[in-house]
Amino acid sequence: MAAVPPSHIPDVLTALATTRAIRRYTAEPIPSDALRDMLFAATRAPSGSNRQPFRFMVFADSERSAAVKALIGDGARKLWAAKRANDGYDNGSGTIDHSPKARMARTMQEYVDHFETVPVLVLACLIRYREPSPSEGASVYPACQNLLLAARGLGYGGVLTGFQGLVEPQLRSLLELPDEVALSATITLGRPAGAHGPVRRRPMCDLVFGDTWGTSAPWAEDPPGTPVLTSRFGPA
Ligand SMILES: Cc1cc2nc3c(=O)[nH]c(=O)nc-3n(C[C@H](O)[C@H](O)[C@H](O)COP(=O)(O)O)c2cc1C
Repeated sequence: MAAVPPSHIPDVLTALATTRAIRRYTAEPIPSDALRDMLFAATRAPSGSNRQPFRFMVFADSERSAAVKALIGDGARKLWAAKRANDGYDNGSGTIDHSPKARMARTMQEYVDHFETVPVLVLACLIRYREPSPSEGASVYPACQNLLLAARGLGYGGVLTGFQGLVEPQLRSLLELPDEVALSATITLGRPAGAHGPVRRRPMCDLVFGDTWGTSAPWAEDPPGTPVLTSRFGPA
């Protein structure tokens, strides 16, 4: 195990409730024993028929890693610029400096502008053994979440993105990936520049029904103290 005192490792339910998307990192590299523990957790994930079609490529500080970060960084900047315009991040409450929307836009802009400096980038891949299907992600994304949870447990943080999408042809050729390998996600990892904290989600009564569609289960109540989500960008 990486050198984290057991008293500093959150229990599993706390980790689940506090694993936020972390997009700002210190410059600290991630030591290989911590990477090993995170990727070990990822590889313990379930998959259909236990085929384990997921594969992870880990890019830290090699020359090729720098090339991959630069390429995906280009894709990230283009994707974010399009999303910023299409989703109206600069309209409505986005014009109010400290609104959740404006803060989110600043975080995203800073993330993509400095993408090349992320300490570690992980490409989550899937070896296709049959025709692409809408459910194939079900055999790779649990492993991605295991990775993020393990990062949280070890005091690191990360975020899953689709930033590889726009530059996939160039990436495939740079990495000489076999045709049957699908690129499922780009995950960046590092020591959080800010802090972990409770995730903000809709109350569970909106999301958990009993035996009648649309009617919350009577026991579906958030634990006391759960932060209230007022917009999808965060609290007001
Ligand atoms: C399928 C999926 C795709 C995502 N794509 C991106 C992305 O392209 N860029 C990004 O910055 N975050 C991405 N995220 C992170 C989400 O934006 C983030 O988890 C969500 O806003 C909730 O924030 P929180 O985890 O901090 O509570 C993605 C998450 C998932 C599960």
